[in-house]
Amino acid sequence: MSAVATTAPLVVFFSSVSGNTARFVEKLGLPSRRIPLHSTEEPLIIDEPFVLITPTYGGGQGRGEEKGAVPKQVIRFLNDERNRNNLRGVISAGNTNFGEAFCLAGEIISRKCHVPHLYRLEVFGTPDDVDRVSDGLERWWTQQ
Ligand SMILES: Cc1cc2nc3c(=O)[nH]c(=O)nc-3n(C[C@H](O)[C@H](O)[C@H](O)COP(=O)(O)O)c2cc1C
Repeated sequence: MSAVATTAPLVVFFSSVSGNTARFVEKLGLPSRRIPLHSTEEPLIIDEPFVLITPTYGGGQGRGEEKGAVPKQVIRFLNDERNRNNLRGVISAGNTNFGEAFCLAGEIISRKCHVPHLYRLEVFGTPDDVDRVSDGLERWWTQQ
């Protein structure tokens, strides 16, 4: 039997020094935890269901070349089974300048971890993205 979801979804996110994803998450106003930037920091372990928000890196080498699209910090976080078991969905950020590789990280995580790719947003998102994601997430979360 799965645990009953609480009303506010927990967001776990990664954001590099440019901080775009952090800006978006802040605007959502949901409970959130940040994946550490440096491997010297204490690893993040999450023991309750969450939605992951991650930017895409890798530089748009095309769909055939997926290496690097998922930030290494996110890979390290998902390599821990406790975290992977609590992952319920993924939202990806990127830049359409990268063409076919736009938001590729979300597709890769969705496929490998068997969770839905819920939304794609560009850079730090528009006010519309903030509204759609916060409304959609809360509705979807209560149905989990
Ligand atoms: C070196 C580099 C490579 C990137 N590669 C991709 C990419 O392959 N696909 C994509 O959609 N966005 C790509 N981006 C755009 C970032 O995902 C986007 O700027 C994002 O908002 C960064 O989030 P952050 O500031 O929270 O780290 C890349 C950005 C940089 C600087």
